[in-house]
Amino acid sequence: MTDQYKKLLTSLKFNNGQSIKYRTCLTPMVTYVAEKDGSIGDLALKFYGDRSDVAGLLITGAANVVQAGKAYERQINISDDKYISGLTRLAKVMKADGNKAVVQLHHGGKEAMWAQENFGHVESPSGIDFPAEAYTFPSDMYQPEELTETRILEIIAAFAAGAKRAMEAGFDGVEIHGANQYLLQSFFSAYTNRRTDKWGGSLEKRMRFPIEVVKAVKEATKERPDFIIGYRFSPEETLAGKVGYTMEDSLQLVDKIADVGVSYIHTSIFSHFDAKPKGYSQSFGELVKNKVGDRAKTIIVSGVHTADDAKEALDHADIIALGREALVEPQFTKKIAEGKPEEIKRSAKYEQDTNLLFTELGKDPAKFFEELDKV
Ligand SMILES: Cc1cc2nc3c(=O)[nH]c(=O)nc-3n(C[C@H](O)[C@H](O)[C@H](O)COP(=O)(O)O)c2cc1C
Repeated sequence: MTDQYKKLLTSLKFNNGQSIKYRTCLTPMVTYVAEKDGSIGDLALKFYGDRSDVAGLLITGAANVVQAGKAYERQINISDDKYISGLTRLAKVMKADGNKAVVQLHHGGKEAMWAQENFGHVESPSGIDFPAEAYTFPSDMYQPEELTETRILEIIAAFAAGAKRAMEAGFDGVEIHGANQYLLQSFFSAYTNRRTDKWGGSLEKRMRFPIEVVKAVKEATKERPDFIIGYRFSPEETLAGKVGYTMEDSLQLVDKIADVGVSYIHTSIFSHFDAKPKGYSQSFGELVKNKVGDRAKTIIVSGVHTADDAKEALDHADIIALGREALVEPQFTKKIAEGKPEEIKRSAKYEQDTNLLFTELGKDPAKFFEELDKV
């Protein structure tokens, strides 16, 4: 181990006693490697098995907790007990080499393309047909349907059931997906959540759904106090020119979630790990770290392509997440640990146009891997 990267390679202990051996993680990425129904087959086992050396903490791509929240064909499915056996095999390959493995729990909300195609509508806090630019994948095909209170409670219970399945499958924890415009974020956003009941309105009420999900997951996994629970969020939202929420709002959410008690808070940004919100002198990562204090660890992501990037990013969070870089360099952290950081392959192509990757490669894993091989 070189002294230069010592901190990166030093183990880190979460508040619940669980620890990771390196301060790096594989960020959640749907790479369309599950089988058509979302079960785990050879492709998923190969994709994650190949990446057991990439980081100390490995997080799966988003796994849908209900079919109505399924966004992508071939995303991992955790909505039924029948998936547990495959997930058990997945946990085993991800945990090889002493890593910790976590499943990202997901409901696609208004962005659930697969659900739209299969059920003719998507589940959303409010039944509003937003303009195309308010969607991650611009389209006018979505039919958002307002969730009833009964259904809201069912979805919360589905997150808890997903966490239980992850636990049964041998995973070390779960990450609750509260980012990237999916269902939890849609509840938090004043733009997409126009409800007037206890699930919408004031900031306090818009926080209710994400917080209830965290509480339910905690309750479902309480027999295992060392089970890691992470929460991922996007720090700001402006959709179709309208502010859904600000960094200040997010810091209040993060504060509440840290009070409920999680192992880590994961800030999702697509720009760069040292990016700052407008009007702030500190980075997104630093602001979150200051707010959370010693109540939870923090993860920052985006634009890490070299060992020096990773070292620098540690000024902004406790753990550094690897996204596109991990697709092209499965041995990222291992190469640093072995004193060969200069041998790390760089992903330049995927930086150029993530949307292209999603739309052109996303639906066809064979093509996706063919392209990956060319990088
Ligand atoms: C192919 C691909 C799939 C992704 N899927 C997810 C996902 O399932 N869940 C999630 O929270 N973020 C997802 N993201 C966002 C990444 O986790 C990450 O935040 C983003 O790629 C920025 O990090 P990077 O610059 O290291 O790639 C995805 C990104 C890519 C490129």
